[in-house]
Amino acid sequence: MTKFNTKAVHSGQEPEKEFGSVIPPIYQTTTYAQEHPAQTKGYDYTRAGNPNFTNLEQAIAALEGGTYATVFSSGLATVTALLNILKPGDNVLGINDMYGGTYRLMTKVFEKMGIGFKTMPFEDLEAVKKELTTGSYTLLSFETPTNPLLRITDIEEACSAAKKHNVISFVDNTFASPALQQPLTLGADIVWHSTTKYIGGHSDVVGGAIVTNHAQYKEAFDFARLSMGLNPSPFETWLTHRGLKTLGVRMDRHCTNAKSIAHMLEQHPKVAKVYYPGLASHSGNVTAAKQMSDFGGMVSFELKASVEETAAKISRFKFFTLAESLGGIESLVNHPATMTHASIPADIRHKAGLADGLVRLSVGIEDVEDLMDDLHTILD
Ligand SMILES: Cc1ncc(COP(=O)(O)O)c(C=O)c1O
Repeated sequence: MTKFNTKAVHSGQEPEKEFGSVIPPIYQTTTYAQEHPAQTKGYDYTRAGNPNFTNLEQAIAALEGGTYATVFSSGLATVTALLNILKPGDNVLGINDMYGGTYRLMTKVFEKMGIGFKTMPFEDLEAVKKELTTGSYTLLSFETPTNPLLRITDIEEACSAAKKHNVISFVDNTFASPALQQPLTLGADIVWHSTTKYIGGHSDVVGGAIVTNHAQYKEAFDFARLSMGLNPSPFETWLTHRGLKTLGVRMDRHCTNAKSIAHMLEQHPKVAKVYYPGLASHSGNVTAAKQMSDFGGMVSFELKASVEETAAKISRFKFFTLAESLGGIESLVNHPATMTHASIPADIRHKAGLADGLVRLSVGIEDVEDLMDDLHTILD
């Protein structure tokens, strides 16, 4: 069977027929000439489809070990397309620490459309299974590892419980990327991505994708893209496809750098706690080792410091840029208390395990010695 990096380089990419261009051109067009009315060469309007979309879809589907993919203008456009699978009266059971934007979309938009939404921790899967026995749910939605504490859910167990109750499983694989974990092969019905992160990999393009083996979901997602105008642009899909070809080699480096940093932080006297699924001290270490080929490029840690002290310290990095987002080749640092989770009152934030001194690193592919020096400068 063709291996991951070979698929990343070759899937969805044939030399172009007219001039032999090795890289597919950017089909920067809105429309396509028809020889006779309704006689097309496969595309009629770019909101509905474009050769660059198809190329990227074939590549992402191949990497996830799936049959079909649909690409979108963002990760959240992908979740929006779910509206075409769900209907008023349906209920979604979601993990309690899902990405905040997904939560906002579910609660502020989906609920208004009559779709119910309940969240709970997924670390205790027995409780999730018990909740599913109520028979009230249409969709089970979770991500693993989660943001920012990198909690791990056993994908195979959660998806098999969903299947038992005819519940569709919908897994956000953004943090791991298909280089490290392939939820479809573990029983998920639909896997989705913010391709903005590791798949694009260069912090220069926002996008999203779903992958599935079910033709009816592919059809529903294509229809949603067309009807709701959730399409990406040809240039953006071309850029994302360019990024995807190096996903495997980038992830190798993200993982080795993150692992070294996590081990260093765990020994550091100014650090109260480190969250990295590759550490034996992490609650999800055993499950992560079972379902992931490596532990990823995200590391969170708690400084023994107040909100203000932490914010001041992490503003002084040389190579870790203080910024939202993750998954690019450059290292980023985030302070949940004052950035991503600033809108949550302190007591609720603390209850969710997000301490004042919590810092999240998206570890890039720079030389790890430079990243370590940077960390030591602000920690020591
Ligand atoms: C885990 C995860 N899923 C989904 C999203 C949303 O993706 P996008 O920003 O491409 O809409 C993000 C964005 O940060 C994310 O971190």
